[in-house]
Amino acid sequence: MKRRDAFKKIGLAGIALSTIGISLPSMAQSQDIAKDNLIINRQKMKIANTESPTEFELKHTPEISFLESDEKGFTLVKIHMGSQGIVHPTLENHWIDYMKIYKNDKLVASTEFEKGSIRGFSEYFIKLEKGNVVLVEIGCNLHGIWTNTATF
Ligand SMILES: [Fe+2]
Repeated sequence: MKRRDAFKKIGLAGIALSTIGISLPSMAQSQDIAKDNLIINRQKMKIANTESPTEFELKHTPEISFLESDEKGFTLVKIHMGSQGIVHPTLENHWIDYMKIYKNDKLVASTEFEKGSIRGFSEYFIKLEKGNVVLVEIGCNLHGIWTNTATF
């Protein structure tokens, strides 16, 4: 009986240790952060099949349009938070919480959006030359980080 009790105790301790061992690395790898008591998903996402993106993927993919340029070399860049006419929702618990714009891999703009407040699109005059690559990154608090690029 004593030997059996000892195995029971070892077994429980083993389960407890393995539980701790499993949970600690997964917590360390998590990129999620908390903001206003909401979980913010920071997982990098991609369209699975670029030939036929889903409505969910289009809703999270920023759409980049180049409009008119001025005489000083600045071009109006319009960014939709969602592609092909689909606009990402803005709710108290689900919204695009930030957007970053890169020109040739250099960060040129970074904007945070408060929950439930901003929806739709942004416009910036960005100094661009032919061949410059604009990358837009947006973060959905629930569905992660999405990017798109366009070459001027
Ligand atoms: Fe979302």
